[in-house]
Amino acid sequence: MSKEINTIGVLTSGGDAPGMNAAIRAVVRQAIYCGKRVMGIKRGYAGLLQEEIEEMQARHVSDIIQRGGTILQTARCLEFKEEEYQIKAADICRKFGIDGIIVIGGDGSFRGAQRLSEQGINTIGLPGTIDLDIDCTEYTIGFDTAVNTAMEAIDKVRDTSTSHERCSIIEVMGRDAGYIALWCGIGNGAEDILLPEKYDYDEQKLVNHIIQNRKTGKKHHIIINAEGIGHSTSMAKRIEAATGVETRATILGHMQRGGSPTAKDRVYASIMGAMAVDLLCAGKSNRVVGYRNGEFLDFDIDEALGMTKQISEYMYEVCLHLGI
Ligand code: ADP
Ligand code: F6P
Repeated sequence: MSKEINTIGVLTSGGDAPGMNAAIRAVVRQAIYCGKRVMGIKRGYAGLLQEEIEEMQARHVSDIIQRGGTILQTARCLEFKEEEYQIKAADICRKFGIDGIIVIGGDGSFRGAQRLSEQGINTIGLPGTIDLDIDCTEYTIGFDTAVNTAMEAIDKVRDTSTSHERCSIIEVMGRDAGYIALWCGIGNGAEDILLPEKYDYDEQKLVNHIIQNRKTGKKHHIIINAEGIGHSTSMAKRIEAATGVETRATILGHMQRGGSPTAKDRVYASIMGAMAVDLLCAGKSNRVVGYRNGEFLDFDIDEALGMTKQISEYMYEVCLHLGI
């Protein structure tokens, strides 16, 4: 028999992402609509262990749908990887009467959610990460805003790069995942993209490409470099020395994680937040909400974590073909 849920906890964990607030708002209001109590847990698993837990009413989430970041704050909590602290967290949930938790975060946060469900607390994960690196879903909360932020910034760098006839290396976020770089590669019309999943560290190939493009009249050369490869500044020096083309590096950094969410991030995060509540109310646990083929669906967390998202070969090839 499935457990009846009376009180739902919600937390954000790992790197923040624009749209997390829209998801929190949806969780709070859908839960209240369904006659449940909602408890906001501050600072992810760290705040759970510190009992930073407060009841939330509909008005607590007023005026946040348009705001980046997360009103619940977020944290990385290494001790939560240890069973001792997972047991403690489940006890704290029981102490506060929390029988279901919605975890908004990336794959690391989902591993924490998995552990909590093993400790008897029903859990639902919402994919909140600008990295788009969760395989079961074609959409993650924050990616759309982040990639648009990066794209607009790269357009600006491109203007000055063209005026000065320079090569520009622009570093975007993504320690292990190259989706922001891939999308900007196509969306910004970059000449080269360096993705953690693909880059072979053959700098001579980049040098040859720059020289070749110069001969055919290109006025700039945009290289989008993912954070996971990094070293953009030293790469710029080497490329300038090898090509004779003035080269500058720009690291976009955390600006990509902030800012007002796009319509897509607000709407999808809202639907996913409401769906997470509905799943808990239906007695489900250890599930992740995702979006695939035009539909919002839920997946087993173990299954979701067992898959590794691949870079689309076709998108990658197209990006390179269009950068000639
Ligand atoms: P993200 O959720 O964005 O991928 P992290 O990988 O930093 O971010 O994970 C966020 C938090 O999730 C960690 O700080 C930790 O509290 C928790 N977490 C990560 N991996 C595990 C694990 N294997 N077991 C339990 N909790 C984990
Ligand atoms: O997971 C989101 C992300 O922004 C990654 O793209 C990046 O590698 C990482 O977080 C950076 O984290 P931090 O906030 O610790 O710099």
